[in-house]
Amino acid sequence: MKIAIGCDHGGIVLKNSVKQAIADSKCEILDFGTFSDASCDYPDFAYKVGKAIVSGEADKGILLCGTGIGISIAANKIKGIRCAHVTDLYCAQMAAEHNNANAIALGGRITDSATAYEIVKTYLASTFAGGRHQARVDKIARIENGEAL
Ligand code: RB5
Repeated sequence: MKIAIGCDHGGIVLKNSVKQAIADSKCEILDFGTFSDASCDYPDFAYKVGKAIVSGEADKGILLCGTGIGISIAANKIKGIRCAHVTDLYCAQMAAEHNNANAIALGGRITDSATAYEIVKTYLASTFAGGRHQARVDKIARIENGEAL
């Protein structure tokens, strides 16, 4: 599985722990930056990672900014992206099992490295449950397409 990763300056420190979790999950890493702690704009990296996912270049994505909020909002503007803002292991599992999230977002200023490592390991080890959850995810797509429910 190929995992795209992207962050702004607020997520750069956490990126190393996250990359280790991806590697330990036996996944390939596609790093879309940023690569320094210079101030930059999180939508740029949400866009790169989101486009990589919807194009099929990557299977899933991990996004990091200061809180994880801005970069998740930006990613969710891309058609086909379901990005969950995650701060604990239960939500990491549910994001995959119930929401079929194809990306998760974490905050470098709110989540410590050890927790971030476990969140990413948990997310990548969890699989979509389908069934009634598929019907709900289908409704999300209909909303995205401007269709009535
Ligand atoms: C950058 O200072 C910060 O606003 C950004 O990393 C993120 O937290 C936004 O949601």
